[in-house]
Amino acid sequence: MKVAVLGAAGGIGQALSLLLKTQMPAGSALALYDVAPVVPGVAVDLSHIPTDVKVTGHGKEDLGDALDGADIVLIPAGVPRKPGMDRSDLFNTNAGIVKALVEGCAEHCPNACIGIITNPVNTTVAIAAETLKEKGVYDKNKLFGVTTLDVIRAETFVAELKGLDPAALHVPVIGGHSGTTILPLLSQIEGVSLTDDEVESLTHRIQNAGTEVVEAKAGGGSATLSMGQAAARFCLSLIAAMQGENVVEYTYVQTDDSDDAAFFAHPVRLSANGVDEILSYGELSDFETKAKQDMLEGLRGDIKMGVDFVHG
Ligand code: NAI
Repeated sequence: MKVAVLGAAGGIGQALSLLLKTQMPAGSALALYDVAPVVPGVAVDLSHIPTDVKVTGHGKEDLGDALDGADIVLIPAGVPRKPGMDRSDLFNTNAGIVKALVEGCAEHCPNACIGIITNPVNTTVAIAAETLKEKGVYDKNKLFGVTTLDVIRAETFVAELKGLDPAALHVPVIGGHSGTTILPLLSQIEGVSLTDDEVESLTHRIQNAGTEVVEAKAGGGSATLSMGQAAARFCLSLIAAMQGENVVEYTYVQTDDSDDAAFFAHPVRLSANGVDEILSYGELSDFETKAKQDMLEGLRGDIKMGVDFVHG
């Protein structure tokens, strides 16, 4: 099993790579790529941790070696938000970065599963899809927007409010990954009942949790440690599925569902080939149905922006 992290020297990249170095199955390989000159040092640093995971560092000119033979590629490369910024403000810088890196994937590891972390995820995943189509190697079952952070935040906040163990909670989050496109399904949490006020305030907090971190870091970036954990959870689930386990994660995938949007986070059963089955997200409450209807146009617009970017 080989995992490549592109943008590995950044805040998310380093946290994610640390978790993968300590948790990937024995005998795996972890390739770290970044344009920042510190990346070989990050790899040396991690290589001193005594686990049977081989870490290699790859600088700017070495994307091919990082990607050759990769089963999974995780992409957190790009700039994060500063206070006052929306995720869409990152588009101008990050769109080109994601396109170039995905072109590298098309060339060097066309069969790999690709997890896009770089924001705005609603749009960068569409950019990745169109780029892979242009290269003739698109497999919709192998492209994911990593929205796991919304799930772990939702589980944390519900547990905090109700005095429960977050590890025992399961909170579905569907839709996209920005503002109101993030739709937690609080009506579906087993064994937890919430008042209308609690649903409204929790939904608002989950949708704005990224901004909570951006403001608290006061110009020093956005979520990196919790995102590292979220991306590691997603990657380890994918690895487990590739090794035959039955695993379901919420992730932003191509759905072909014209009632929602071309890409939409769903519960997805993973397999050796990426998406095994996109599962139904079930019945929505009236509150969730309205929230979904209100955000769909915005999400579709975000996706169109990605498609238009690739096709000029
Ligand atoms: P960071 O600035 O700490 O790290 C980004 C890294 O990407 C840097 O090391 C930089 O050198 C590298 N990079 C830039 N251009 C590159 C290229 N062409 N090839 C390879 N590496 C390149 O940023 P951070 O905090 O790690 O965030 C990264 C991205 O993840 C941002 O776009 C941020 O908005 C996004 N993010 C996504 C979340 C999600 O839930 N999907 C949550 C939090 C952040």
